[in-house]
Amino acid sequence: MTRLGLIGSGNMARALAVGWGQTVLATDSGSGRAAALVGEVGGESLGTDNAALARRAEILVLCHKPYQLDTVAAQAGGFTGLVVSVLGGVTLAQLRTAYPEASVSAVMPNTAVEVRRGVTLLAEGSDAPQEVTELFGRLGTVVTLPETALGAGSGISGVGPAYVALFAEAWVDAGVRAGLKPADAGALVLDTLAGSAELIRARGGDTLAVRRGVTSPGGTTARGLRALTDAGLASALHAAMDATRGTS
Ligand SMILES: NC(=O)c1ccc[n+]([C@@H]2O[C@H](COP(=O)([O-])OP(=O)(O)OC[C@H]3O[C@@H](n4cnc5c(N)ncnc54)[C@H](OP(=O)(O)O)[C@@H]3O)[C@@H](O)[C@H]2O)c1
Repeated sequence: MTRLGLIGSGNMARALAVGWGQTVLATDSGSGRAAALVGEVGGESLGTDNAALARRAEILVLCHKPYQLDTVAAQAGGFTGLVVSVLGGVTLAQLRTAYPEASVSAVMPNTAVEVRRGVTLLAEGSDAPQEVTELFGRLGTVVTLPETALGAGSGISGVGPAYVALFAEAWVDAGVRAGLKPADAGALVLDTLAGSAELIRARGGDTLAVRRGVTSPGGTTARGLRALTDAGLASALHAAMDATRGTS
């Protein structure tokens, strides 16, 4: 089994480690989260010692914050294995400068990797693309994109779990207002989201066909769709995409 070393033991590191379901080596910056993580998935915390981690890991997965790239690379100095970065906005060129002796890959997973239904974006031009695709393929789908498209892609899949959670929460509230018990509304919302995604996939992504299949002329669904449109659903999603890209 490949020895995986996680630099950083926060939300993304935990989601990855739980999804992989294998022991890991891990560090943090002093919070103790590395020890908590290996307590959950097995392996060993090396405390704050990134140099020791780099000596022992075959693949280093960078799970710290993007601005810490150079500091952490100096600590992990001279690593010659494969560095896989999940750092938002950090380019392959920056990774190659920080880790000149290593192979480097840039990926952008989402937190659904924890349940192996994640989406991981892989930057074209990454080193060892087959190895990285196999590693992240264990956690869901892997989609290779030009590096310049990672920001837009991440504006869908990276942030998506938060959007879907917000949408589900609001929908449950609407159901409760209409008289449903929260647990019933929650079950309906989750199974409707999951089933509808599968149905759209089965229709080859033809969202209009799925909408037409539910919408009788002049009926209930048509009135609900009109209300969503009038409330600005499409504009809200465009605005959210602009916000993630810093263009709003
Ligand atoms: N969350 C997401 O959905 C998501 C999605 C895609 C990509 N990402 C990327 O994942 C990275 C981490 O995000 P996150 O949400 O997991 O952040 P987070 O929960 O704040 O975790 C960051 C981790 O990095 C550790 N750290 C900081 N400096 C370090 C150092 N010098 N050596 C070792 N560990 C160090 C922190 O240590 P302490 O515990 O001691 O503070 C913490 O465990 C970011 O670069 C982000 O762009 C996140």
